[in-house]
Amino acid sequence: MSAERNSLPPFRRYRRLRQSAGLRRFARETLLHPGDFVYPLFVTFGSNVRREVPSMPDVYQISVDQLEREANELLSLGIGSVILFGIPEVKDDEASGAYDPDGVVQQAIRELKRAAPELTVIGDVCCCEYTTHGHCGILHGEIVDNDRTLTLLARTAVAQAQAGVDIVAPSDMMDGRVKVMRAALDAAGYISLPILSYAAKYASGFYGPFRDAAESTPEFGDRRSHQMDPANVREAYLEIAADIDEGADAIIVKPAMPYLDVIAGARERFDVPIAAYNVSGEYSMVRAAGQAGWIDERRVTMELLTSIRRAGASQIITYHAKDAAKWLREDYGGVPAAAELVSR
Ligand code: PBG
Repeated sequence: MSAERNSLPPFRRYRRLRQSAGLRRFARETLLHPGDFVYPLFVTFGSNVRREVPSMPDVYQISVDQLEREANELLSLGIGSVILFGIPEVKDDEASGAYDPDGVVQQAIRELKRAAPELTVIGDVCCCEYTTHGHCGILHGEIVDNDRTLTLLARTAVAQAQAGVDIVAPSDMMDGRVKVMRAALDAAGYISLPILSYAAKYASGFYGPFRDAAESTPEFGDRRSHQMDPANVREAYLEIAADIDEGADAIIVKPAMPYLDVIAGARERFDVPIAAYNVSGEYSMVRAAGQAGWIDERRVTMELLTSIRRAGASQIITYHAKDAAKWLREDYGGVPAAAELVSR
């Protein structure tokens, strides 16, 4: 036996560092932390509302009065931030619910900053949840009018700033929005408010369940005239460079799983924080396959989140945030500050 081994040519033994949980932990390159998770919240009008989204198990449309409870749960799990989407009571062609000082997101921002000031509140800035036709801005015929929409986006960002938001995140994909928004915020006195732009946002089939949750499915057509073609990556770097040049402080790549190459490429090229949006369809697929017993949901979820982080994302916007934070805590005995991924 040992003679046989001695007769083998020399080679490297990578298995040495894989043979126990302790050695695997020692050699682990990528860690997850709940503080890097951003949890999306769908805020709706009315009171005492907690309505589960049919295509997204455990994701709810909630009313403003439910936010304190929600914020406390997130903070107790160590989750650092939320991103807000609004479902207004009335929609119109000018998306006025988006920038109304009493719009549902503005109310939500005020309530969250009152109830949980330490939670970072990000406001998604887009018109699609507020227009009757579900498009991302003012229509000219069947096309979203870029330059007229910019005015609405800037007004929305200022309205969120006045309500006390910590970060504004434009998700509309109009050209020039970061520049116009930065100028409007500065003119209104909000020179210190950061912009997190969805710089590389693809026209994706993975947004389907979100549009149920946010009630923002376009009445006709789609978003391919402004969101990016899934086939392109160099164009994503142009978009990111433009947004940084216009004043974006951090950027988002979206969706996450099918665009890990974009995240990794952006990480090499740009030095701003890069967030990844692990979107609704990615979440619903994992949950559905888990419920069917076809995959080990916990294991798959943690593997996916780790992959997104390994690709280079610093923050992960994800509907899995609460579950993942609980699993990290279970694995690491309630010390989220020291939490790291366990490959089970
Ligand atoms: C636009 C917006 C969308 C998402 C986030 N912001 C939908 C869209 O572009 O149609 C999708 C997020 C998800 O699917 O989880 N306001």
